[in-house]
Amino acid sequence: MENVLDLTKWYKKNFRDLPWRTTNDPYKIWLSEIILQQTQVVQGLAYYHRFITEYPTVAKLAEASEEQVLRLWQGLGYYSRARNLHKTAKLITNEYQGVFPNEKCELLKLPGVGDYTASAIVSFAFNKPHPAIDGNVFRVISRYYDINLPIDEPATRKVFLEILQPMIEQTSPALFNNAIMELGATLCKNDHPNCSVCPLYIDCQARINETIALRPVKNKKVKKRNRYFNYLLIRYKDNIYIQKRFGKGIWENLFELPLIETEAPADWKNLSNSIASTVSNTKGFNLVKQTSLKHVLTHQTLFCQFFEIYTTEKPVFVSENCLEIELKDSTKYPFPILISNFLLSL
Ligand code: ADE
Repeated sequence: MENVLDLTKWYKKNFRDLPWRTTNDPYKIWLSEIILQQTQVVQGLAYYHRFITEYPTVAKLAEASEEQVLRLWQGLGYYSRARNLHKTAKLITNEYQGVFPNEKCELLKLPGVGDYTASAIVSFAFNKPHPAIDGNVFRVISRYYDINLPIDEPATRKVFLEILQPMIEQTSPALFNNAIMELGATLCKNDHPNCSVCPLYIDCQARINETIALRPVKNKKVKKRNRYFNYLLIRYKDNIYIQKRFGKGIWENLFELPLIETEAPADWKNLSNSIASTVSNTKGFNLVKQTSLKHVLTHQTLFCQFFEIYTTEKPVFVSENCLEIELKDSTKYPFPILISNFLLSL
C-alpha cells in the first residue's frame, strides 16, 4: 500500500482517546480485546471500566470466583468468553508468574486467545509487527484492493496477512494496527461509509470500481434453530427458585429458573405433566401471569415463556439442583440478560 503514511497521519489526528490505547499493560490490552469482540466501543468502555475497577491486575481477576466474573460479564453474551477470560487469568497468575508472554505463539496457547487477539496483544503491548485482522481490517483491505474472497473462509486470512505484513513493517506496528482498525470502525463502515474524508480515497479500488457495497464478501449464512423455553417462576413467600445451567451449549454455568424445554410452543395445560415431574407438590399452584419473550442469539432463536406461579406451600423439587433465594437477592447471581431483565421487571 502506498498510503500507509496517510493512514497513520489520519489516525494521529482523528483517533478516539480510549484507555487501552494509552497503556502497554498486556493485561489491560488483552481484557479490552476480549470485551471488544463482544460489543461496540461505547458499551465496551463501560464493561472495561467495571472490570479494571474490580480487578485492577490479572492476579485479582484470577482470585475471583467464576460466578463473580460471569456476573460482571452479564449482558455481553457468549459466556464461554468470560469463562476463558477467567481461565487465562488463572493460568497467567499460576503458571506464568503473573507475566503475559510477549511472543504470539505463546499467547496462542491461552484459552480464548486466537490469532486476532494474540496479534493485538503483541503489537499493542510489545510493538511487534503482527497484523491484527478483525472485521474492520478485513473490510478496509477488501475494499482498498477490491478483493472478492469470502472473509469467513479460513484460507482467506492468509491472503490478507500477506498483504498486511509488508504494510505493518513500514511503520510502528501498534500505530498501524490501531489506525487501520480505527478507519474501519469510524469511516470505512459497513453501511454508509464516509469515503469523502477517507485518507485512502484516491487509491481505493472498490470506490473506483463502485463495489464498495459488495465488499467484503461473506459466504456463510448462519442457520438458526428455534427453541422453546418454558420457565417456571415459582413464588413462595418472598422467595423464588433458581438453578445452575450445566452442560455444553448456551449459558453454561449461568443461573436460570426451572426450565421445561419443548419441541414446539407449549401452553400451561400441556405443560402440566412436565411440571409435575419437576415439582412434586403442584396442587396449590396458582398461575397468575404468563409472559412471552423472544431472544435472538447468533445460532438460535429462543421463544421463552415465563409462568409466574404463586403457592402457599413450599415447593419440593424433584431435582436437588434448585436453590431457594429471596427475589431481591437475584441480582447477586449471574443470569442470562433475558432472565435478569425479567426478574428486575417483577
Ligand atoms: N475493536 C477491537 N479492538 C479495538 C481496539 N483496540 N480499539 C478500538 N476498537 C477495537
